[in-house]
Amino acid sequence: MEHLLLVADSFRESVLGELGSSCKVIDETHNAMVVDISEARARRLDGAMFVYSHFPILRKARIGNVKGSAYAGLLLRQVKALGVPRSSRLRLECYDINCKRGYSAKDIEVSVGTALEKDGYCIELKSPDVLAYVVLLNGVCYSGSVETHGRKLFIDPFRIYKEKRVSRAEFKMAEAFDTFGLKVPRVVIDIGAAPGGWSLCLARKGAAVIAIDSALLDYASIGMQGIVVKRVRTIRHGDLRPGTILHIKSRLDKAIPLLGGVKADMVMDDINAGGMESAKAVLGCAAQAREGAVLIMTVKCLRRNVGKYVEEVESLLGTQFRAVQWKVLPHNRQEITLYAIRK
Ligand SMILES: C[S@@+](CC[C@H](N)C(=O)[O-])C[C@H]1O[C@@H](n2cnc3c(N)ncnc32)[C@H](O)[C@@H]1O
Repeated sequence: MEHLLLVADSFRESVLGELGSSCKVIDETHNAMVVDISEARARRLDGAMFVYSHFPILRKARIGNVKGSAYAGLLLRQVKALGVPRSSRLRLECYDINCKRGYSAKDIEVSVGTALEKDGYCIELKSPDVLAYVVLLNGVCYSGSVETHGRKLFIDPFRIYKEKRVSRAEFKMAEAFDTFGLKVPRVVIDIGAAPGGWSLCLARKGAAVIAIDSALLDYASIGMQGIVVKRVRTIRHGDLRPGTILHIKSRLDKAIPLLGGVKADMVMDDINAGGMESAKAVLGCAAQAREGAVLIMTVKCLRRNVGKYVEEVESLLGTQFRAVQWKVLPHNRQEITLYAIRK
């Protein structure tokens, strides 16, 4: 059966390697592929490192040079032909990957959604039962629908996180929470924290964050979000309050002696260094992470040697961490996010 795959475009070769030779690529562009793949293989893509998401294609049609209301009409016919019951709460997503019909996704969704409502469909944006999608790729309109079972499903992986952020990096942490099913930790150490996106994300969820970086955090933006952020010279237990960020303005090696007896429930590491250096930084403060603490870390790597980076970092971290999982998240660029647990 044909499936639409949203993929990490900076790891093209790794995507193809992960799909295997039995999978036939029918159509593709930088961040999306239409592939012919068995149902069993498609189900296994849920755990894939380089594939963000995959959706079955139920219909396809050439779109030719349709414009204006004829274009909206074509999309409407595609959605109706999917046979979604009018009793289902339906969200429609129109994703124009590279056909550029001159509409924003929102405009066309509103126009087609309004027409569907007039025809008796029940449109529900927040908690739909069914997601129906119409995806334009290389002059072809691919459509399908899936039941959501309460999941937040989006075809375009960048549409899910919309709020204003301190840094783009903050989206990566929000994605890591959803992807690895993380729980909010009580105390977290954030290595390479500036300008503060990850720290803010965790403090907003209620964690006490120790942010370590010789660069400044964006104190003004963090403060505007109602989060208390303080520069400190050392960590005292009484200062570790939920929803607070304590900033040690120093490189990690100098900061470790200032952490006192802290035992964190989570360590985050997003330093702008190679994977091995990053892993060494984490090991340097592993004694400050309690048994069972979660590690979230980005591993910067080159496109070609992904397997080598993964192996080396995993073997180095293996002395102190277990249950390693890897996933390229939509907001990762030349890097992979790693999840592990302190032994
Ligand atoms: C990509 S930024 C981190 C972005 C951050 N996660 C956020 O959400 O805003 C990388 C940071 O790592 C810091 N860094 C690099 N090496 C470091 C080290 N050894 N110790 C502490 N911070 C380090 C840099 O100063 C830089 O601010």
